[in-house]
Amino acid sequence: MMISSRMVTSLNGQIANELLASHKYLAMSYCFEDMGLHVFAKRFMEQADEERGHALKIAKFIQDVGGKVILDKIDKPKSDYKSARQIVQAAVDSELLVTKQINDLVAQAEKEKDYATRSFLQWFVDEQVEEVATMSELLKLVVMAGEQYLLQVEGRLAAMMAAK
Ligand SMILES: [Fe+2]
Ligand SMILES: [Fe+2]
Repeated sequence: MMISSRMVTSLNGQIANELLASHKYLAMSYCFEDMGLHVFAKRFMEQADEERGHALKIAKFIQDVGGKVILDKIDKPKSDYKSARQIVQAAVDSELLVTKQINDLVAQAEKEKDYATRSFLQWFVDEQVEEVATMSELLKLVVMAGEQYLLQVEGRLAAMMAAK
């Protein structure tokens, strides 16, 4: 195996973290549907898929370096959000948490002089900058609009989704 078994264990842990993040976004998406905010729901459904993609990307890397992928259980995500603002705030918090998890993996890879994993993780470092930025921007919009003007934010969000 190209990398340490400790590193494989940590990467498997991150697969579980990414799948939990995916699960959280899925629950958030259905809460948005309940609120009648279909564009938010669609955006968060897409985000759930992206997080699942992150988990699969890590799994592929583990297999590429000769490790064994081991899936863990996924905790029950929160589903009793009271407002759109609360959901988007939770999404920002979740992205900040994942950023810390990625940074811890980078620190471990550097400590172990595991440059294959270190290089692989750079994509995630950059991805977290992107995701924290976009969720923070969305939070700003939601806070600025207030709950009664969320439909306008949906219009903006739909345009942003069409543009990418
Ligand atoms: Fe992710
Ligand atoms: Fe993310």
